[in-house]
Amino acid sequence: MHTRVLTGITTTGTPHLGNYVGAIRPAIVASCQANVDAFYFMADYHALIKSDDPARIERSRLEIAATWLAAGLDPQKVTFYRQSDIPEIPELTWLLTCVTAKGMLNRAHAYKAAVDRNVETGEDADAGITAGLYMYPVLMAADILAFNAHKVPVGRDQIQHIEMARDIAQRFNHIYGSEFFVLPEVLIEEQVATLPGLDGRKMSKSYDNTIPLFAGGAKQLREAIMRIVTDSRAPGEPKDPDSSSLFTIFRAFANEAETQAFRSALEGGIGWGEAKQMLFERIEVDVAPMREHYEALIAKPADIEDILREGARKARDTATTLLLTLREAVGLRSMAKAATHASGPVATASKEKPPRFASFRDEDGRFRFRLLAGDGEELLLSEPFADPKAAGLLQKRLREPGGAGVAVEVEGQLARLRIDGELVATTPDYADTATRDTAVERLRGVLQRFATSD
Ligand code: TRP
Repeated sequence: MHTRVLTGITTTGTPHLGNYVGAIRPAIVASCQANVDAFYFMADYHALIKSDDPARIERSRLEIAATWLAAGLDPQKVTFYRQSDIPEIPELTWLLTCVTAKGMLNRAHAYKAAVDRNVETGEDADAGITAGLYMYPVLMAADILAFNAHKVPVGRDQIQHIEMARDIAQRFNHIYGSEFFVLPEVLIEEQVATLPGLDGRKMSKSYDNTIPLFAGGAKQLREAIMRIVTDSRAPGEPKDPDSSSLFTIFRAFANEAETQAFRSALEGGIGWGEAKQMLFERIEVDVAPMREHYEALIAKPADIEDILREGARKARDTATTLLLTLREAVGLRSMAKAATHASGPVATASKEKPPRFASFRDEDGRFRFRLLAGDGEELLLSEPFADPKAAGLLQKRLREPGGAGVAVEVEGQLARLRIDGELVATTPDYADTATRDTAVERLRGVLQRFATSD
């Protein structure tokens, strides 16, 4: 089964070496695992909470998209998109807002810290605080829940937000009486390095101590490295690698043998200037080819735009299906169905013959089944299974309440059913788009009735 891993990157600022080692590189490595279905997106709605400078927002989105692509993110493998391209996210934000306890948001660290600062300085408690900052955790919950992500890799400062997303998901599931949402789990990468910045504190934009990843080219990378603070030991004096920022950064790029060699060089008394040059050269081995790719990408923003739009299309396939179910669940339903819905959604189903599964063996002896509507219309044909039990389990899964992880994705004149990203069944290939849409609507209705009946 596929694990859906989702994370957001707030688009303010320009990526630095610490972002690369601490977030970008591990996320790209993780996205290459066979059983992972990765959703990585640019949290540009969140960026608006932090910055009201349009030029900065625009620039940062472009730089961050180009950085991730240059660093090796494969948009064929990863669903890579902009939050603001997914209208289902703000739509879901509202549905979640209406079940979120205000008291919980009062306790959010970022909001509380802003209030505390105001109180300390004798200001009105909410001076200068936008409702955007206050609602930040709900928007973030929508980012995660819109795709029913299982795992959310984030930094420690984000743990509370994931806990809130779980809380909100649980409340919604409880109030509307079904497992609509998977409860997401936080994923903290323990062994990922935190890089020290120029002054030895954690590399961070807020300390103004960063080393740029691509911006300014090799020249600025080298200049920044030359500014890293060291102690005053002269060339020839032995240096302590374990208290040296240079060594920590070097180790984050180098293999074991290279690291040992650098350690010996420091202990053997290499001058700081020379050590910095070694560090620069080692980083360049990794960064130079990516930088070349980065510059090519930045020069063609229209190509990046195309990649992100395609990502949004893929992402929306999943989110629209879920939002349809959620709208129905909260009572935002088509009025055309109101007469039959009046006595509850199940009443409709009981009038028609119920849909059913028909199992069979194909020419190759493999086990398959069809999902047939009450009137016998074929809605789905499953993938073949070597083991009849696997086919049975899948039928059971489709009948499970909640329908979590089940997505119907339209593709050409047909639609594919995926569970946790894995293709499990396909509709017939319809003659035209209108026929397909009617049939897909019917299929979604059937799946939803499975998902909401008990
Ligand atoms: N708040 C996150 C951060 O600042 C970014 C983010 C927004 C995010 N939406 C998300 C992370 C959803 C994970 C999942 O780092």
